[in-house]
Amino acid sequence: MTTSLMGRSVLVTGGSKGIGKGIARVFAEAGAKVAIMARHFDQAQAAAEDIGHGAFGIAGDVTLLVSLEAAMASVIKQNGALDVLCANAGIFPAARLEEMSEAQWDEVMDTNLKGTFLTLKAAIPYLKKSDQGRVIITSSITGPVTGYPGWTHYGASKSGQLGFMRTACLELAKYGITVNAVMPGNIMTEGLVGNGEAYIKSMEASVPLKRLGTPEDIGHAALYFASKEAAYVTGQTIVVDGGQILPESLEALNQA
Ligand SMILES: NC(=O)c1ccc[n+]([C@@H]2O[C@H](COP(=O)([O-])OP(=O)(O)OC[C@H]3O[C@@H](n4cnc5c(N)ncnc54)[C@H](OP(=O)(O)O)[C@@H]3O)[C@@H](O)[C@H]2O)c1
Repeated sequence: MTTSLMGRSVLVTGGSKGIGKGIARVFAEAGAKVAIMARHFDQAQAAAEDIGHGAFGIAGDVTLLVSLEAAMASVIKQNGALDVLCANAGIFPAARLEEMSEAQWDEVMDTNLKGTFLTLKAAIPYLKKSDQGRVIITSSITGPVTGYPGWTHYGASKSGQLGFMRTACLELAKYGITVNAVMPGNIMTEGLVGNGEAYIKSMEASVPLKRLGTPEDIGHAALYFASKEAAYVTGQTIVVDGGQILPESLEALNQA
């Protein structure tokens, strides 16, 4: 197990629930000083208390640069530095293309894609000062690899994050900052529960490992990218999906 996260200052956006909370828990248990950001401060603080290990909540909205700048200042005030940024906050409201309004498209893009840009923009001045600056983006299999009705906007935003990453990592390499992305499959989170029981059952059946992922499954992948051992890895992705994208057909899944 890597120990290089001990004492490192980590910010997890969207850390009050789901995948972000799982990432925060894994980093806190590895000895990192973890700040958990969400729009609802009370939920961020409650997650921090549940996780323990000195984790703390801060308020912040990834769609607003001024809010992110204030959040970064809070991290610096409490931890004295920022070494690892987990740009995880995201939303996935479903809307079919034919019915989707411009406002629905914009909301998803503003949070997931522009939000990733704004989060990095606010963090870079501090990450530059770290001797081990790390950015880990939470993308998805949906968009970069797969499609799902109702998620044209979401898929575009998640693919967009990877395109963003592949140039961001070039620009930030001169500061020793690495930028990588985790691509989760279906992970059991509060957000996913909102898709309904039928969705969850069908997803479980489509995963070769026959279960949905846990937020901590994603946390462990993020921890690798943040570790000292991953110092030479940048601009890369890891799919964490229980093998979901692999079967060529239902037959391939069910006959195995
Ligand atoms: N669950 C999955 O199966 C799955 C699969 C692939 C990828 N992902 C990705 O994983 C990430 C987290 O998903 P999840 O399922 O864990 O979602 P979730 O359970 O709904 O949690 C979302 C988190 O993001 C925060 N958030 C939402 N909008 C925000 C904003 N504008 N500014 C700051 N924080 C915001 C929420 O807190 P507040 O509402 O208080 O702000 C919450 O902490 C997303 O990027 C998603 O695309 C999820």
